[in-house]
Amino acid sequence: MTLRWTALLICLPLAVASCITNSSSTAQLQALLQEGGEGYKLELCRNQIYSLTDVLSYTAAGQEISTEKYPKDESRATLKVAGFNVTCAVKATANGLDGIALRNVQIDGNRGNEPIYTAPQANIEFGGMNSGQLIEYVRSYDPRGWSCMHIAEGPFTCRGATIQYNDIGPCGSEAFQQWADGISLSCQESLVQGNTIVDATDGGIVIFGAPDSVIRDNLIHVKTRTLLGGINMVDVLPWRPEGNFSNVLVENNHISGGFATDIGNDTMGMNNASAIIKIGIGIGPQVWWSDGRYGRNQTTGATIQGNQFSGAFAFAMAISGARDDVIRDNSFVGNVSFIGSYGPNCTVGGETPNSPVPLLEDPSLTTNLDISVPSPASSILSMAPGSGAFQTGRALGLTCFMPPASDSVSWPYGGGQVNAQPTKSGGAGLLIQPTLFGLCFTVAVAVLFTSVGGRL
Ligand SMILES: *[C@@H]1O[C@H](CO)[C@@H](O)[C@H](O)[C@H]1NC(C)=O
Ligand SMILES: *[C@@H]1O[C@H](CO)[C@@H](O)[C@H](O)[C@H]1NC(C)=O
Ligand SMILES: *[C@@H]1O[C@H](CO)[C@@H](O)[C@H](O)[C@H]1NC(C)=O
Ligand SMILES: *[C@@H]1O[C@H](CO)[C@@H](O)[C@H](O)[C@H]1NC(C)=O
Ligand SMILES: *[C@@H]1O[C@H](CO)[C@@H](O)[C@H](O)[C@H]1NC(C)=O
Ligand SMILES: *[C@@H]1O[C@H](CO)[C@@H](O)[C@H](O)[C@H]1NC(C)=O
Ligand SMILES: *[C@@H]1O[C@H](CO)[C@@H](O)[C@H](O)[C@H]1NC(C)=O
Ligand SMILES: *[C@@H]1O[C@H](CO)[C@@H](O)[C@H](O)[C@H]1NC(C)=O
Repeated sequence: MTLRWTALLICLPLAVASCITNSSSTAQLQALLQEGGEGYKLELCRNQIYSLTDVLSYTAAGQEISTEKYPKDESRATLKVAGFNVTCAVKATANGLDGIALRNVQIDGNRGNEPIYTAPQANIEFGGMNSGQLIEYVRSYDPRGWSCMHIAEGPFTCRGATIQYNDIGPCGSEAFQQWADGISLSCQESLVQGNTIVDATDGGIVIFGAPDSVIRDNLIHVKTRTLLGGINMVDVLPWRPEGNFSNVLVENNHISGGFATDIGNDTMGMNNASAIIKIGIGIGPQVWWSDGRYGRNQTTGATIQGNQFSGAFAFAMAISGARDDVIRDNSFVGNVSFIGSYGPNCTVGGETPNSPVPLLEDPSLTTNLDISVPSPASSILSMAPGSGAFQTGRALGLTCFMPPASDSVSWPYGGGQVNAQPTKSGGAGLLIQPTLFGLCFTVAVAVLFTSVGGRL
């Protein structure tokens, strides 16, 4: 009896300390996945940084990479891209990787001030001919490649990825074509929810068709850099037929452009990073590309509803090149402004887009849209007259607009920064705590709605 008890006491601590420490090389971590086989869990240790000299690849279905005890804070293990010319930290795109998971870790792309690397891979590369993959409670930032995470279509057989409660950003830099996305989704029937994306630079969430996917309750915000698009529905490839966004539902996302960081006058202030979101939600390829590369192809079959916009944009929503989409019940909350000037690349082949307005539609390239814009139009701060409805105009290549200078009195107050209305959620806390997102979101929105509550 005594002997047995002793054995137990010795065994227990061993079982608890089962995480794989960062004294293991990348090759050793890879070997553990290889030997572990199906369902193996690579459990990393809290507060440790794992310098990756190569991509860590999942090798069998049901594998998981996570931090012991699933913390959600800074104690999550960090996988840091360190090998020269390596742009991807973890990869699960080979065949036979159904149901694999990446949970409660941090992925540091470690790009620093370097320009974007030419290798075409994101911090996290999932998808392929696989279903039921999961990424949750992961922080992904500073990628060397074009995205903080990419879920690829594979041979159009990727299905059912779940991307939830991640905190993402910063991703990319503002310099021309040095941009990176927050989440790049091309896997059908996927669920992207409850993510917080701060300071992505290309698209906060870019939907590449991804038929039958739901993108909901995400918070996309800019603080220190300008973002071209909050949610992009502009890529008509790779899904076929071109522009296939069938049954894609984009709902209840909160997209907030920049807010004043310094006091200007009673209603507007300066922003020390000159940060705006150029296009809150962009629908159709022409909104993005002025070179006609996608011809008259249109984004089709999507529903965009219940989304909320606050802060500084060039355009909250812009549509050009869209068919059979439903756009309803989207609203402005808190303070908003629509700012930006024509940049050097705005005029292409004699065509110039409309100047910034809240909502812009180009009717010459849209077909059978179901747009409902409840009246009365709101009278929110800085909104152009008649702005409760979509204005018609040329919505072409709208990423060409330039944010105002940082000392311009152009940014609205809000977002937990100067002159913001106090909220029960504690201001900026709302923006960085994905776990509290659902709760805080409800509280904050209720408060903001009573103060202004303009619906589109
Ligand atoms: C392990 O992680 C710690 C930080 O938690 C770091 O100081 C140390 O350099 C890392 N060791 C290796 C071998 O990377
Ligand atoms: C890094 O990648 C670039 C582009 O693929 C290539 O030109 C360069 O030679 C690579 N450098 C090294 C050291 O592999
Ligand atoms: C869009 O793609 C899905 C998945 O491949 C397919 O089932 C659907 O038929 C396509 N939509 C159209 C309009 O062809
Ligand atoms: C910009 O303003 C924000 C909010 O007031 C502040 O936290 C930040 O430190 C400022 N950054 C610079 C570079 O001044
Ligand atoms: C604040 O400044 C902006 C930009 O100059 C101006 O449009 C706005 O009317 C001003 N508001 C007040 C209350 O002076
Ligand atoms: C749609 O895009 C494809 C390229 O993917 C192009 O070949 C085709 O002509 C375009 N269709 C239209 C109607 O512009
Ligand atoms: C305009 O486009 C050119 C490339 O065609 C690019 O080099 C330049 O940086 C762009 N300017 C801006 C302000 O985006
Ligand atoms: C909107 O701006 C006003 C000043 O014009 C400020 O008092 C108010 O707190 C701001 N609203 C929010 C929700 O921050």
